[in-house]
Amino acid sequence: MIIPRPREVAVDGGSVAFRRDLLRLMPDDPSLDEEGYRLDVSPSGVELTAGGPAGRFYGSRTLSQLGPLIPYGTIEDRPRFAWRGVMLDVARHFMPKAFVLRLVDLLAEHKLNVLHLHLTDDQGWRLEIERYPLLTEVGARRGGFYTRDDVREIVAYAAERFVTVVPEIEMPGHVQAAVAAYPHLGNDPSRELEVWSEWGISEHVLNLEESTVRFCQDVLDEVVELFPSPYVHVGGDECPTTEWERGPRARRRLAELGLAGPQEACAWFIGRMAAHLEKHSRKLVCWDEPEREPTPGTTVMVWRDEQAERGGNDIILAPHTRTYFDYRPSAAPFDDQPADPDRPTVQESVLTLADTYAFAPDPAARGVQCQLWTEYMPTPERVEFMALPRMCAFAEVAWGSPGDYPDFLRRLGPHLARLSAQGVRGGPLIP
Ligand code: ACM
Repeated sequence: MIIPRPREVAVDGGSVAFRRDLLRLMPDDPSLDEEGYRLDVSPSGVELTAGGPAGRFYGSRTLSQLGPLIPYGTIEDRPRFAWRGVMLDVARHFMPKAFVLRLVDLLAEHKLNVLHLHLTDDQGWRLEIERYPLLTEVGARRGGFYTRDDVREIVAYAAERFVTVVPEIEMPGHVQAAVAAYPHLGNDPSRELEVWSEWGISEHVLNLEESTVRFCQDVLDEVVELFPSPYVHVGGDECPTTEWERGPRARRRLAELGLAGPQEACAWFIGRMAAHLEKHSRKLVCWDEPEREPTPGTTVMVWRDEQAERGGNDIILAPHTRTYFDYRPSAAPFDDQPADPDRPTVQESVLTLADTYAFAPDPAARGVQCQLWTEYMPTPERVEFMALPRMCAFAEVAWGSPGDYPDFLRRLGPHLARLSAQGVRGGPLIP
């Protein structure tokens, strides 16, 4: 459970006033699964039995959420999905390390276990790569970047809270910041590009040379050294093929590679990265694109629809219709930001709290994830404002314990009050 339902728990009618010394940690019970736990509450105290360390952590979270009066009874609980993620885009607007750590706390509070950091895009490169310093010297000019020590700190802090940090390095599109830093990665090295300062999809993509493949592999070598995550995300979405169609060199290269056309090049690129990551015993994750067959053995993050079937690949469901929290939470005005059609402060699509709560993911998926794209979220305060309370609804879906919506709303009030007491400043509750 994410937001406890105390009335359902109180099978025996009584309750115990919780004190730490009343908690007994019992030996692990493997039948509960690594992340599962059981709380037995009786007049003599509270027994916590878990399937492993993560289960113990989640059991103790539930306990603190239930307090101070814990009803008698038994709670046995485990998540439905192994991957319960939140994506934070730090490329469009850089988010300071302190906020990333704060977000990890928020994930842990909601029993979410993956923080996917979207580290690179047309508008910024946010990860120090020792071998290619210009990536951040040039590519992080708008905002900042994480040093290797920052990453180690974030990863360790997250691990203590059973959160895995999954890095995303976008390729072969969404790379204008990298091409601005190293023009030889692009399709017209004579042309000077800037780190992009507009939103949208830049048509400047990586070229298909072997040296560019090697560059990306070098970057991934440093990424896997820093991030212990079994998964590495390489983007792969929205890759325009205009430069590969137009450029004589790109066309020759397509022929050399035996590719039928530019629309096959993105899959080829992803396949090269998947093979490279496999040498490091890591799995590749990429965004789903309808024109591209998923590479066997890779994990596909589905964002355009809600279907979990992709020919045998592991699927993470991240449908924009349920999980893009940059969409406005209401068609009506929902905050005091000035309404200026020339300078929008939020995406125009609407995604309500109820829409998120009604997300019914296919249980065949490996996981689910919500997204914090930051084109219109320039500050940590704005991210928090947009993330909550929709993230609370998402967390119940991800854990697999949603109930009926009015009941959720009743439980949400006290939950938001608890978060507020911890200094969390979400947006308004728009039921
Ligand atoms: C995406 O929204 N382009 C994954």
